[in-house]
Amino acid sequence: MFDPVRITVVGTGYVGLVSGTCLAAHGHTVRVLDVRPEVVASINHGIPTIHEKGLPQLLAEVVAKNRLRAAVASEGALGDAEVILLCVGTPSKDGAIDLSQICAAATMVGRWLRGRDGFATVVVKSTVVPATTDTVVRGVLESESGRRVGPDGFGLGMNPEFLREGEAVSDFMGPDRIVFGHEDEGTRHLLDRVYAPWDCEKIAVNTRTAEMIKYANNCLLALQISAANELANVAASIGGIDFMDVLQGVSADKRWNPLSSEGRRANPGILSYLVPGCGFGGSCFPKDVEAMRTIAASSGIEPRLLQSVLDVNAAQPVAVLRPFLDHLGADPRGRIVLLLGLAFKPGTDDVRESSSLRMARHLVELGVQVLAHDPIAAANAVAAIGDGVIRLVDDWKAAIETADGVIVATPWPDYEGLADAPNLLDDKIFLDARRMFRPGAFPNAHYVAVGYSPKTPLQPKASA
Ligand SMILES: NC(=O)c1ccc[n+]([C@@H]2O[C@H](COP(=O)([O-])OP(=O)(O)OC[C@H]3O[C@@H](n4cnc5c(N)ncnc54)[C@H](O)[C@@H]3O)[C@@H](O)[C@H]2O)c1
Repeated sequence: MFDPVRITVVGTGYVGLVSGTCLAAHGHTVRVLDVRPEVVASINHGIPTIHEKGLPQLLAEVVAKNRLRAAVASEGALGDAEVILLCVGTPSKDGAIDLSQICAAATMVGRWLRGRDGFATVVVKSTVVPATTDTVVRGVLESESGRRVGPDGFGLGMNPEFLREGEAVSDFMGPDRIVFGHEDEGTRHLLDRVYAPWDCEKIAVNTRTAEMIKYANNCLLALQISAANELANVAASIGGIDFMDVLQGVSADKRWNPLSSEGRRANPGILSYLVPGCGFGGSCFPKDVEAMRTIAASSGIEPRLLQSVLDVNAAQPVAVLRPFLDHLGADPRGRIVLLLGLAFKPGTDDVRESSSLRMARHLVELGVQVLAHDPIAAANAVAAIGDGVIRLVDDWKAAIETADGVIVATPWPDYEGLADAPNLLDDKIFLDARRMFRPGAFPNAHYVAVGYSPKTPLQPKASA
């Protein structure tokens, strides 16, 4: 029988709001706390302050049923929670992660624990490097509460979140696994109750292992992206190779793409990480690889591979622009380029570390006039890049006419429509930075793409 838990979520960004809403939708009683009063007010009206597919409906539903309420963060607002989920930000700072939001939240929770009767558990859901929960967070909680981790004190856990922005609600509702990092049995038991409605693999480990699972996961995914991008650049430099054809050949290997006994391919999601592009961005991969690199270096391990993953990624937006700029001419000053897509990926309004913005900055530095469009991330992009740096357009199809060149930087489904009106790109230089289209789809455009170069293959050097 379902046994609802009283849960308080601290931090209502992408992770906190999605987690709180989904937990409430499954019948738990949820409070969500944030330091931003305007965010709290909006949530209490059932209106999310982030863009996520399916979230507006679900949030409105749980608020209307009184299963979720928001409040400004304070000790008193923690209520009579049995489980506190810390979902505050852990941004990058000098290569490491900045734990100031985590420490502020843990201080508040520790003070609340001091005056609380009975057992409650504190679970870190934010991404923190291994040995943060059982040292830093534990230390703050114990000193502020005067209590210890254990049955007579409080519980401590680490439950990493794997949701992908843009798919956050469906990822949270249908996870492939849930990791129960725990330092005590009381926490393990409460995590079992919280996630009882979820029927998936549940992996119970200590908190350090839970933290490392999250980092290893993201570092390995980022590695695939940088490896594919570097190989795609090599293929393009040789000429006469389309890396998408290479990928087709590689992904026929049953170790990447298993065959069922009926001869059907599994086509696992990992293959999408091998499609060449202008680099990874967002609030997770760059920050997590960087943090692991820093940890490795400070542990006396030379982080050669992690450094390379970051280096390839940092160079990729400019590397991808090179053939496009060759077509634009020796002096690109004053030329007009339309950049399609500003979010770091489709389905989100998040522009943190977006490769598209790096391309925009590089073009502007060269004196190019950048027109830009994004279905939902345009305002965030201007806030990130500064007023007057790029010019936003609403009607991107009409804007093509005034542009010398067009770049698809975020593969929003809206832009697929270009394939139905190829003449829009006649005589334009067109960079497909995400491999949305087949070469040949725009016969009258100067088509350039990451991992594709039609030039004659290099001739072998004659021996002396
Ligand atoms: N965004 C993702 O796709 C994703 C996925 C998995 C894990 N993560 C990790 O989860 C954590 C949160 O990420 P996010 O993208 O949701 O961050 P975010 O920046 O969108 O949200 C953090 C929220 O915490 C609030 N906050 C800050 N200090 C607070 C305090 N003391 N009390 C209450 N609220 C406070 C902020 O106002 C903000 O609303 C990070 O560690 C991130 O690395 C993020």
